[in-house]
Amino acid sequence: MKTETTIQGLAASLNPARAARKIIGFVPTMGNLHEGHLSLVREARQLCDVVVVSIFVNPIQFGPNEDFDNYPRTLEQDSQLLAEAGCDIVFAPSVEQMYGKSPRLTNISVSEITEDLCGLQRPGHFDGVAVVVTKLFNIVQPNYAFFGQKDYQQLAVIRQFVRDLNIPLEVIGVPIVRAEDGLALSSRNGYLSEQERKTAPVIYQSLKNAEQALQQGEKLSEVLANIKAALTQAGFVVDYVEARTPELQKIDEFNQEIVLFVAAKLGSTRLIDNMQIKPTA
Ligand code: PAJ
Repeated sequence: MKTETTIQGLAASLNPARAARKIIGFVPTMGNLHEGHLSLVREARQLCDVVVVSIFVNPIQFGPNEDFDNYPRTLEQDSQLLAEAGCDIVFAPSVEQMYGKSPRLTNISVSEITEDLCGLQRPGHFDGVAVVVTKLFNIVQPNYAFFGQKDYQQLAVIRQFVRDLNIPLEVIGVPIVRAEDGLALSSRNGYLSEQERKTAPVIYQSLKNAEQALQQGEKLSEVLANIKAALTQAGFVVDYVEARTPELQKIDEFNQEIVLFVAAKLGSTRLIDNMQIKPTA
Protein backbone atom coordinates (compact mmCIF):
# COMPACT_ATOMS: atom_id res chain seq x y z
CA MET A 1 0.00 0.00 0.00
CA LYS A 2 1.25 3.45 -0.96
CA THR A 3 0.66 6.69 0.93
CA GLU A 4 0.49 9.92 -1.04
CA THR A 5 0.28 13.34 0.57
CA THR A 6 0.27 15.51 -2.56
CA ILE A 7 -2.11 15.80 -5.51
CA GLN A 8 0.80 15.36 -7.93
CA GLY A 9 2.07 12.27 -6.13
CA LEU A 10 -1.38 10.73 -6.21
CA ALA A 11 -1.71 11.47 -9.94
CA ALA A 12 1.66 9.80 -10.58
CA SER A 13 0.53 6.73 -8.61
CA LEU A 14 -2.82 6.51 -10.38
CA ASN A 15 -1.87 7.35 -13.96
CA PRO A 16 -0.63 3.85 -14.90
CA ALA A 17 -3.91 2.37 -13.60
CA ARG A 18 -5.90 4.95 -15.54
CA ALA A 19 -3.90 4.27 -18.70
CA ALA A 20 -4.61 0.54 -18.29
CA ARG A 21 -8.34 1.36 -17.91
CA LYS A 22 -8.48 -0.15 -14.45
CA ILE A 23 -11.61 0.44 -12.40
CA ILE A 24 -10.80 2.91 -9.62
CA GLY A 25 -12.79 2.84 -6.38
CA PHE A 26 -12.64 5.71 -3.90
CA VAL A 27 -13.56 5.91 -0.20
CA PRO A 28 -13.37 9.43 1.30
CA THR A 29 -12.89 9.53 5.10
CA MET A 30 -11.70 11.80 7.88
CA GLY A 31 -9.65 8.97 9.44
CA ASN A 32 -9.85 7.46 12.92
CA LEU A 33 -11.09 4.43 11.07
CA HIS A 34 -13.39 1.74 12.43
CA GLU A 35 -15.32 -1.21 10.98
CA GLY A 36 -17.87 1.18 9.42
CA HIS A 37 -15.18 2.78 7.26
CA LEU A 38 -13.56 -0.58 6.60
CA SER A 39 -16.83 -2.01 5.28
CA LEU A 40 -16.71 0.69 2.57
CA VAL A 41 -13.13 -0.27 1.76
CA ARG A 42 -14.07 -3.96 1.52
CA GLU A 43 -16.99 -3.15 -0.75
CA ALA A 44 -14.65 -1.09 -2.95
CA ARG A 45 -12.13 -3.97 -2.95
CA GLN A 46 -14.83 -6.32 -4.27
CA LEU A 47 -15.95 -4.05 -7.10
CA CYS A 48 -12.76 -2.30 -8.21
CA ASP A 49 -9.22 -2.98 -9.43
CA VAL A 50 -7.62 -0.12 -7.50
CA VAL A 51 -8.86 1.18 -4.12
CA VAL A 52 -8.01 4.72 -3.01
CA VAL A 53 -8.93 5.92 0.51
CA SER A 54 -8.55 9.57 1.48
CA ILE A 55 -7.95 10.66 5.05
CA PHE A 56 -8.55 14.36 5.44
CA VAL A 57 -10.16 16.20 8.34
CA ASN A 58 -11.90 18.85 6.30
CA PRO A 59 -11.88 22.19 8.16
CA ILE A 60 -14.64 23.82 6.10
CA GLN A 61 -17.32 21.30 7.12
CA PHE A 62 -16.90 22.02 10.85
CA GLY A 63 -18.80 24.85 12.54
CA PRO A 64 -16.98 27.36 14.79
CA ASN A 65 -18.00 25.50 17.97
CA GLU A 66 -17.47 22.00 16.61
CA ASP A 67 -14.65 19.54 17.15
CA PHE A 68 -12.23 20.26 14.25
CA ASP A 69 -9.22 20.82 16.55
CA ASN A 70 -9.98 17.81 18.72
CA TYR A 71 -11.05 15.45 15.92
CA PRO A 72 -8.92 12.29 16.43
CA ARG A 73 -6.01 12.03 13.99
CA THR A 74 -4.62 8.48 14.00
CA LEU A 75 -2.87 8.07 10.63
CA GLU A 76 -0.47 5.30 11.65
CA GLN A 77 -3.18 3.06 13.07
CA ASP A 78 -5.49 3.89 10.14
CA SER A 79 -2.80 2.92 7.63
CA GLN A 80 -2.41 -0.49 9.23
CA LEU A 81 -6.17 -1.13 9.14
CA LEU A 82 -6.37 0.02 5.52
CA ALA A 83 -3.52 -2.23 4.42
CA GLU A 84 -5.31 -5.19 6.02
CA ALA A 85 -8.64 -4.26 4.37
CA GLY A 86 -7.07 -4.22 0.89
CA CYS A 87 -6.57 -0.50 0.21
CA ASP A 88 -3.98 0.23 -2.50
CA ILE A 89 -3.39 3.95 -2.04
CA VAL A 90 -3.97 6.22 0.96
CA PHE A 91 -4.32 9.88 0.07
CA ALA A 92 -3.60 11.96 3.18
CA PRO A 93 -3.13 15.59 2.11
CA SER A 94 -2.50 18.59 4.37
CA VAL A 95 -5.03 21.43 4.63
CA GLU A 96 -2.65 23.54 2.57
CA GLN A 97 -2.44 20.89 -0.14
CA MET A 98 -6.23 20.81 -0.39
CA TYR A 99 -7.05 24.50 -0.01
CA GLY A 100 -3.80 26.25 -0.97
CA LYS A 101 -2.89 29.76 0.04
CA SER A 102 -5.23 31.80 -2.12
CA PRO A 103 -8.82 32.26 -0.98
CA ARG A 104 -11.46 29.91 -2.38
CA LEU A 105 -14.26 31.84 -4.10
CA THR A 106 -16.34 28.89 -5.29
CA ASN A 107 -18.98 27.15 -3.23
CA ILE A 108 -21.15 24.12 -3.91
CA SER A 109 -24.51 24.37 -2.26
CA VAL A 110 -27.33 21.86 -2.57
CA SER A 111 -30.72 23.39 -1.71
CA GLU A 112 -33.88 21.87 -0.12
CA ILE A 113 -32.49 18.55 1.14
CA THR A 114 -29.81 20.36 3.18
CA GLU A 115 -32.30 22.73 4.79
CA ASP A 116 -33.43 20.52 7.66
CA LEU A 117 -32.28 17.54 9.76
CA CYS A 118 -28.51 18.05 10.30
CA GLY A 119 -28.52 21.11 8.03
CA LEU A 120 -30.50 23.12 10.61
CA GLN A 121 -28.07 22.62 13.49
CA ARG A 122 -24.98 22.71 11.30
CA PRO A 123 -25.29 25.67 8.89
CA GLY A 124 -22.74 25.46 6.08
CA HIS A 125 -21.82 21.87 6.94
CA PHE A 126 -23.12 20.29 3.74
CA ASP A 127 -21.56 23.03 1.58
CA GLY A 128 -18.24 22.13 3.19
CA VAL A 129 -18.83 18.45 2.48
CA ALA A 130 -19.91 19.14 -1.12
CA VAL A 131 -16.84 21.26 -1.82
CA VAL A 132 -14.31 18.80 -0.40
CA VAL A 133 -15.96 15.75 -1.95
CA THR A 134 -16.07 17.46 -5.36
CA LYS A 135 -12.40 18.43 -5.04
CA LEU A 136 -11.52 14.86 -4.05
CA PHE A 137 -13.56 13.46 -6.95
CA ASN A 138 -11.63 15.70 -9.35
CA ILE A 139 -8.30 14.74 -7.80
CA VAL A 140 -8.93 10.97 -7.73
CA GLN A 141 -11.30 10.69 -10.73
CA PRO A 142 -12.74 7.38 -9.57
CA ASN A 143 -15.25 5.17 -11.37
CA TYR A 144 -17.04 4.38 -8.09
CA ALA A 145 -17.25 6.30 -4.81
CA PHE A 146 -18.42 4.65 -1.58
CA PHE A 147 -20.35 6.34 1.25
CA GLY A 148 -22.07 5.01 4.37
CA GLN A 149 -25.83 5.11 4.97
CA LYS A 150 -24.88 6.07 8.54
CA ASP A 151 -24.68 9.64 7.21
CA TYR A 152 -27.86 9.26 5.20
CA GLN A 153 -28.41 12.95 4.51
CA GLN A 154 -24.79 13.35 3.42
CA LEU A 155 -25.19 10.43 1.02
CA ALA A 156 -28.37 12.01 -0.42
CA VAL A 157 -26.60 15.37 -0.87
CA ILE A 158 -23.66 13.73 -2.64
CA ARG A 159 -25.95 11.73 -4.93
CA GLN A 160 -27.81 14.95 -5.74
CA PHE A 161 -24.83 17.10 -6.76
CA VAL A 162 -23.21 14.20 -8.65
CA ARG A 163 -26.43 13.96 -10.67
CA ASP A 164 -26.97 17.73 -10.98
CA LEU A 165 -23.39 18.43 -12.10
CA ASN A 166 -22.93 15.31 -14.27
CA ILE A 167 -19.91 14.17 -12.31
CA PRO A 168 -18.84 11.04 -14.18
CA LEU A 169 -18.83 8.39 -11.46
CA GLU A 170 -21.24 6.10 -9.66
CA VAL A 171 -22.07 6.65 -5.98
CA ILE A 172 -22.53 3.48 -3.92
CA GLY A 173 -24.30 3.54 -0.53
CA VAL A 174 -23.17 0.98 2.08
CA PRO A 175 -25.30 -0.17 5.08
CA ILE A 176 -24.65 1.03 8.63
CA VAL A 177 -22.19 -1.05 10.67
CA ARG A 178 -23.14 -1.30 14.36
CA ALA A 179 -21.51 -2.45 17.59
CA GLU A 180 -22.94 -5.62 19.12
CA ASP A 181 -25.26 -3.55 21.31
CA GLY A 182 -26.61 -1.72 18.26
CA LEU A 183 -24.75 1.58 18.55
CA ALA A 184 -23.84 2.80 15.05
CA LEU A 185 -20.04 2.92 14.82
CA SER A 186 -18.71 6.48 14.67
CA SER A 187 -15.38 8.17 15.28
CA ARG A 188 -17.25 10.40 17.74
CA ASN A 189 -18.20 7.41 19.95
CA GLY A 190 -14.67 7.73 21.35
CA TYR A 191 -15.72 10.99 23.05
CA LEU A 192 -18.30 9.15 25.21
CA SER A 193 -17.57 8.47 28.91
CA GLU A 194 -17.97 4.89 30.10
CA GLN A 195 -21.42 5.71 31.45
CA GLU A 196 -22.50 7.53 28.28
CA ARG A 197 -21.30 4.61 26.15
CA LYS A 198 -23.64 2.35 28.15
CA THR A 199 -26.55 4.71 27.47
CA ALA A 200 -25.79 5.31 23.77
CA PRO A 201 -27.45 2.10 22.40
CA VAL A 202 -30.83 3.51 23.53
CA ILE A 203 -30.88 5.29 20.15
CA TYR A 204 -30.87 1.99 18.26
CA GLN A 205 -33.24 0.33 20.73
CA SER A 206 -35.74 3.16 20.35
CA LEU A 207 -35.52 2.90 16.55
CA LYS A 208 -36.09 -0.87 16.72
CA ASN A 209 -39.08 -0.34 19.03
CA ALA A 210 -40.40 2.26 16.62
CA GLU A 211 -40.09 -0.18 13.73
CA GLN A 212 -42.11 -2.78 15.62
CA ALA A 213 -44.77 -0.26 16.66
CA LEU A 214 -45.14 1.01 13.08
CA GLN A 215 -45.50 -2.51 11.72
CA GLN A 216 -48.23 -3.06 14.33
CA GLY A 217 -50.12 -0.05 13.07
CA GLU A 218 -49.23 2.65 15.62
CA LYS A 219 -49.49 6.21 14.29
CA LEU A 220 -46.24 7.71 12.97
CA SER A 221 -46.58 10.88 15.07
CA GLU A 222 -46.96 8.78 18.24
CA VAL A 223 -44.03 6.60 17.33
CA LEU A 224 -41.82 9.67 16.83
CA ALA A 225 -42.98 11.12 20.16
CA ASN A 226 -42.13 7.81 21.87
CA ILE A 227 -38.59 7.82 20.47
CA LYS A 228 -38.13 11.37 21.75
CA ALA A 229 -39.48 10.43 25.19
CA ALA A 230 -37.26 7.33 25.44
CA LEU A 231 -34.16 9.34 24.54
CA THR A 232 -34.96 12.18 26.90
CA GLN A 233 -35.71 9.70 29.70
CA ALA A 234 -32.28 8.08 29.12
CA GLY A 235 -30.52 11.46 29.47
CA PHE A 236 -30.12 12.57 25.85
CA VAL A 237 -30.80 16.11 24.69
CA VAL A 238 -32.73 15.48 21.48
CA ASP A 239 -31.83 17.55 18.45
CA TYR A 240 -34.39 15.95 16.12
CA VAL A 241 -36.47 12.82 15.61
CA GLU A 242 -37.99 12.86 12.13
CA ALA A 243 -39.53 10.64 9.47
CA ARG A 244 -38.81 11.18 5.77
CA THR A 245 -39.23 9.37 2.50
CA PRO A 246 -35.99 7.78 1.21
CA GLU A 247 -35.62 10.97 -0.91
CA LEU A 248 -35.90 13.08 2.26
CA GLN A 249 -39.38 14.46 1.62
CA LYS A 250 -41.59 15.06 4.68
CA ILE A 251 -44.17 12.37 5.41
CA ASP A 252 -46.98 12.09 7.99
CA GLU A 253 -48.04 8.50 7.58
CA PHE A 254 -46.34 5.11 7.36
CA ASN A 255 -47.86 4.09 4.01
CA GLN A 256 -44.62 3.58 2.08
CA GLU A 257 -40.93 3.03 2.81
CA ILE A 258 -39.68 5.64 5.27
CA VAL A 259 -36.45 6.56 7.01
CA LEU A 260 -36.47 7.49 10.70
CA PHE A 261 -33.76 9.97 11.65
CA VAL A 262 -32.36 10.70 15.10
CA ALA A 263 -29.78 13.25 16.24
CA ALA A 264 -29.22 13.60 19.97
CA LYS A 265 -26.54 14.75 22.35
CA LEU A 266 -25.16 12.76 25.26
CA GLY A 267 -23.12 15.23 27.30
CA SER A 268 -21.20 17.13 24.64
CA THR A 269 -21.19 14.30 22.07
CA ARG A 270 -23.68 14.55 19.22
CA LEU A 271 -24.76 11.16 17.85
CA ILE A 272 -26.81 10.47 14.71
CA ASP A 273 -28.54 7.34 13.49
CA ASN A 274 -31.28 6.31 11.07
CA MET A 275 -33.34 3.30 10.08
CA GLN A 276 -35.07 2.46 6.80
CA ILE A 277 -38.45 0.80 7.34
CA LYS A 278 -40.73 -0.77 4.73
CA PRO A 279 -44.35 -1.69 5.46
CA THR A 280 -44.54 -5.51 5.66
CA ALA A 281 -48.21 -5.72 4.69
P1 PAJ B 1 -16.23 10.14 8.07
O1 PAJ B 1 -17.11 10.56 9.20
O2 PAJ B 1 -14.82 9.74 8.38
O3 PAJ B 1 -16.95 8.96 7.32
C1 PAJ B 1 -16.38 8.44 6.14
C2 PAJ B 1 -17.39 7.49 5.52
O4 PAJ B 1 -17.62 6.39 6.41
C3 PAJ B 1 -18.77 8.15 5.29
O5 PAJ B 1 -19.26 7.77 4.01
C4 PAJ B 1 -19.60 7.59 6.42
O6 PAJ B 1 -20.99 7.52 6.13
C5 PAJ B 1 -19.00 6.19 6.54
N1 PAJ B 1 -19.32 5.61 7.87
C6 PAJ B 1 -19.03 6.13 9.08
N2 PAJ B 1 -19.53 5.34 10.06
C7 PAJ B 1 -20.15 4.30 9.45
C8 PAJ B 1 -20.86 3.15 9.90
N3 PAJ B 1 -21.05 2.90 11.21
N4 PAJ B 1 -21.37 2.30 8.98
C9 PAJ B 1 -21.20 2.54 7.65
N5 PAJ B 1 -20.52 3.60 7.16
C10 PAJ B 1 -20.01 4.48 8.04
O7 PAJ B 1 -18.30 11.41 6.35
C11 PAJ B 1 -17.19 11.91 6.38
O8 PAJ B 1 -16.12 11.33 7.00
C12 PAJ B 1 -16.88 13.24 5.69
O9 PAJ B 1 -18.00 14.06 5.73
C13 PAJ B 1 -16.37 13.08 4.24
C14 PAJ B 1 -17.42 12.41 3.33
C15 PAJ B 1 -15.06 12.25 4.21
C16 PAJ B 1 -16.06 14.47 3.65
O10 PAJ B 1 -15.12 15.15 4.41
